[in-house]
Amino acid sequence: MADKHFNIAVVGATGAVGNTMLACLEERNFPTKSVRLLASERSRGRSLPFRGEQIAVEVLDKNSFEGVDIAIFSAGGGTSKEFSPIAAAAGCVVVDNSSAWRMDPDVPLVVPEVNPHAVAGYTKKGIIANPNCSTIQMVVALAPLHKEAVIERLVISTYQAVSGTGKKAVDELEAQVKAIAEGRPVEKKVYPHQIAYNCLPHIDRFLDSGYTFEEMKMVNETRKIMEDDSIRVTATTVRVPVFYGHSESVNIQTKKKLTRERVWELLKTAPGVRVVDDPANNVYPLAIEAAGQDLTFVGRVREDDSIENGINMWIVADNIRKGAATNAVQIAEILAEKYL
Ligand code: A2P
Repeated sequence: MADKHFNIAVVGATGAVGNTMLACLEERNFPTKSVRLLASERSRGRSLPFRGEQIAVEVLDKNSFEGVDIAIFSAGGGTSKEFSPIAAAAGCVVVDNSSAWRMDPDVPLVVPEVNPHAVAGYTKKGIIANPNCSTIQMVVALAPLHKEAVIERLVISTYQAVSGTGKKAVDELEAQVKAIAEGRPVEKKVYPHQIAYNCLPHIDRFLDSGYTFEEMKMVNETRKIMEDDSIRVTATTVRVPVFYGHSESVNIQTKKKLTRERVWELLKTAPGVRVVDDPANNVYPLAIEAAGQDLTFVGRVREDDSIENGINMWIVADNIRKGAATNAVQIAEILAEKYL
């Protein structure tokens, strides 16, 4: 990779994830030849800083991808559905953060710590999907356990930050907290209920089964990334009044018995994981400490004696970084190093 440099486009560069993608490209010293920033008509005339320079934001259109090697998209499912094939036809590889392509059998769904080899499948459609934020951090922590002891079943509860919904949800939580402190009525635009001082067991739309689409992403994407459709998964996904960082309680049943000590050992050498587990000293992963970091933090590891071969753990990561931007840039790094 040392002598190769790439023309990169970031679609949705003005959004929370797109902006962090730019920061990751810079921090990780990605070998760029040029960086093109794309957004909607609303951003016409804006510019954003990158490596000490201001880059003009361009309005996305079908000619935006000429000469681009890798386009990283985070501009919503509709934009991805329409523009990813156009970008791929122009000869660039798309890394897409939306849910539009994740379950397409011809599109790899990649978490670099878990299934980096799957990147090779990009040639089928010219698109690689970045998984759902809650799924990414969970599989980073679960992959080493699956390899050693074969995971049979997962029972998940998530505690997800409002930044996962976008900047408007961050603003809404802030405004509601302020309104309550000042004794004014709370305004609700983004969520159907007040999010300040509340928990909403509702992320994404409801399906006829009673599950949400977010819950089913965790079921289906986990199986696809871990390349094992036999893993049984059930999830309850909850929005909580936290700005940055998703937390998850995960109950794991394995084929082979894992002790608490063995789980610690496996996770201490696992790529992308940091074990934070000293309950006697009130030390465990916290959303406010994971915020701004690229690692996945794991703690509260316990054996679950209510089932055979059960483990409980608490998994926390920055949903905008490892859950979105960092993972997408890591995929681009694999493309740059091995395939382009
Ligand atoms: P814009 O800022 O011009 O609206 P977030 O999820 O934080 O709201 O960010 C969404 C990102 O996706 C923004 O950069 C937004 O650009 C971009 N975006 C949304 N819709 C479109 C579209 N139709 N074409 C191009 N970019 C879009």
